[in-house]
Amino acid sequence: MMIPLHLRGAPSETPHPLRPLTTPRYCALVTIGRPSPTHPEDFAEVWKYADTIPGWLTEEQGRLLHDSGSDLGPGAVLLEIGSHQGRSTVVLGDVARRVDGEVIAVDPFVEGRLFGGTPTKTKFFANIAGSPTPEVVRLVEEYSTKARPGWTTPIDYLYIDGKHDVWTLSDDLKWHEHLRSGGPVLIHDCYSSIGVTLGILLYVLFGNDLAYERRAGSLALFVKRRPSLRDRLRILGEMPWWIRNVFLKVLLRLRLRPITRLLGHDSPYDPY
Ligand SMILES: C[S@@+](CC[C@H](N)C(=O)[O-])C[C@H]1O[C@@H](n2cnc3c(N)ncnc32)[C@H](O)[C@@H]1O
Repeated sequence: MMIPLHLRGAPSETPHPLRPLTTPRYCALVTIGRPSPTHPEDFAEVWKYADTIPGWLTEEQGRLLHDSGSDLGPGAVLLEIGSHQGRSTVVLGDVARRVDGEVIAVDPFVEGRLFGGTPTKTKFFANIAGSPTPEVVRLVEEYSTKARPGWTTPIDYLYIDGKHDVWTLSDDLKWHEHLRSGGPVLIHDCYSSIGVTLGILLYVLFGNDLAYERRAGSLALFVKRRPSLRDRLRILGEMPWWIRNVFLKVLLRLRLRPITRLLGHDSPYDPY
């Protein structure tokens, strides 16, 4: 169900009356390559707010999300899978506002200790309502895997940060079929999660649709185009960093923080 977030206040179950999502949008086809940085002050301004929202996005990663949208055309549609309390959604909202576009946030608000379920949804609504760009965000309260099969709206920017197992990632990657050529695909926990990285090795390394560009921590930027051999080798070049991260996770589970510190990871949280 689509819910308009610009109707401030408590979460509403009313279907939104805004323009239908099936309206096609046409944007300039640009190859992103290395994203041109947005003005540093623009990002700093939105990050001031985003950083008050709990979540897993670092400032460096927020900047990559922001910069990757700097070439979007008017009316661009940014699709986010996995919004949680809205930390990344707010950053994408700033990108959308600049081009009179919109952010479609897909999240079923999974119950449980890790993601928090309904209370998280309430915080998401409050955080977006209090953000500088509530009017550009729309919520699809659904699993990405359930929303995708009937999806028809073209998208210009894809951000994947939902469930991190191989099967879900492989399905989430299929959203790129709705993405314009040259559009950015950003994947969080790309080289820090076993499920996500195995999915990348299985479906991207040998695929023909997504080319790896670069990463900020575990947030990786791919572009929808045919990858060169060099692009594929760049994915393999990240494997030592992935193995280090998996090793750190094992050490953290074993409560061996002194050893993780020796490896340069001075945090009780998993690397991301
Ligand atoms: C790591 S959090 C996202 C963090 C968020 N991007 C941020 O910046 O803070 C993962 C989110 O994905 C959601 N999620 C889990 N499975 C999902 C799925 N299949 N489709 C969409 N969202 C999913 C969870 O409810 C949770 O809110």
